[in-house]
Amino acid sequence: MLKKLIKTKKAKVGIIGMGYVGLPLALELCRCGFKTIGIDIDKERVDKINSGISFIDDVPEEELAKFVKQKMIRATTDYRILKDVDIIMICVPTPVNVNKEPDLNPIINSSENIAKILRKDHLVILKSTTFPETTEKIVLPILERSGLKVGRDFYLAFCPERIDPGNKKFGIANTPAVVGGITKKCTEITAEFYKKFVNQVVPVSSARTAEMTKLLENTFRNVNIALVNEFAQLCERMGNINIWEVIEAAKTKPFGFMPFYPGPGVGGHCIPVDPYYLSYKAREYDFHTVFIELSARINEEMPYFVVNKTIEELSKSGVCPAKAKVLLLGMAFKKDISDLRDSPAIRVYQIIKDKVAKLEYNDPHVPYFEHNGKRIKSVKLNFQRLKEYDAVVILTDHSAYDYNKILKYSKLIIDTRNAIKKENKKVKKLGCGSNYNF
Ligand SMILES: NC(=O)c1ccc[n+]([C@@H]2O[C@H](COP(=O)([O-])OP(=O)(O)OC[C@H]3O[C@@H](n4cnc5c(N)ncnc54)[C@H](O)[C@@H]3O)[C@@H](O)[C@H]2O)c1
Repeated sequence: MLKKLIKTKKAKVGIIGMGYVGLPLALELCRCGFKTIGIDIDKERVDKINSGISFIDDVPEEELAKFVKQKMIRATTDYRILKDVDIIMICVPTPVNVNKEPDLNPIINSSENIAKILRKDHLVILKSTTFPETTEKIVLPILERSGLKVGRDFYLAFCPERIDPGNKKFGIANTPAVVGGITKKCTEITAEFYKKFVNQVVPVSSARTAEMTKLLENTFRNVNIALVNEFAQLCERMGNINIWEVIEAAKTKPFGFMPFYPGPGVGGHCIPVDPYYLSYKAREYDFHTVFIELSARINEEMPYFVVNKTIEELSKSGVCPAKAKVLLLGMAFKKDISDLRDSPAIRVYQIIKDKVAKLEYNDPHVPYFEHNGKRIKSVKLNFQRLKEYDAVVILTDHSAYDYNKILKYSKLIIDTRNAIKKENKKVKKLGCGSNYNF
């Protein structure tokens, strides 16, 4: 029955959590002809979706509005609607608490609500990034409280989300999807569904394999970014090697090397958070994931490193840092998006705030953010007035910036992203050192 509904695209899909993962997924499913219903505890988000208003960079508003009008998508805060759908995808957050321990409450809460309406032939897919065995040992027992049996009455699988917000080349359809079910039949039916909207499906032997795959991918990025950040610090200490030139040279090797780039730290909901899910689980097995701890230490140090470099360069330019006027460019955690979650640029703002006389920021994607209960607004980027700042710090290399003009009008630039390609004495690049001879 479910197979037929998938084959004919008549299966209705319910998506729990309409954020950076859930909303683009809903849109992709609509594009492929599946009717979707979004469930979210945030009433404002639900109302926006139903009014065709997009709040996610990668979701074009006209397209969302079109699907709302065609009744292909709608949203609600009421979980009971899930009894009318055939497939349920869980895309809720998986944060860490202040002690960096996983907070599975959104997943548990979603599972409990699903258990109340679970019926024969339902397919449930967990997409939130989490530690291995969450699907099997946390979600499954809750769902089976319904009296239904997995693999016989309903199906359950883990399918990690690989979306890269802002990436224009790879989206949901052309990024292979890894699928791991609780039983073979669960994997099979989930793969059938995914084949309808993703070009390539990669079935694996279990849900825990799929969970571990996602954590390997994100930990790999975290560790490699930390490694290159450490190299950047060393180049800076040595003072006469440019890390960016080193990376360009290293990446000419056609095998065995993959470039990663230094910066003010790591951000977003994934890279700084997910490795803690793995180290938490590892402790259960008396296992210490040393790479993760070490990488966090280096990456979390980077905003301090950037601030120290800025203060040092201000002093060298003859300006007393305590009297300096500084402009930060880019607050989002990466280029061309508006996501501020765990952004290292925000960390830089917080650390440098009391060390300089005046601090402002500009970000074309972030009109404002909250700091100490105050709303801090992005200032207009007036090139003629860039000279009024003693230092301009490039923290996120948005494509919208005119770097030639920034170079022309600024007095001193701290470039943490190698955004300014031209060599110039007033540009102080992260990972180049003060004696680097341009
Ligand atoms: N953002 C990314 O680029 C990305 C990429 C891959 C994987 N992931 C993973 O996907 C998951 C979701 O991330 P996101 O970035 O979409 O988060 P998000 O915060 O953008 O969206 C989550 C949504 O879930 C809602 N929500 C929270 N608790 C809920 C509940 N109990 N019931 C219903 N709705 C609830 C929130 O209101 C929010 O709208 C996380 O596990 C994350 O690690 C994210």
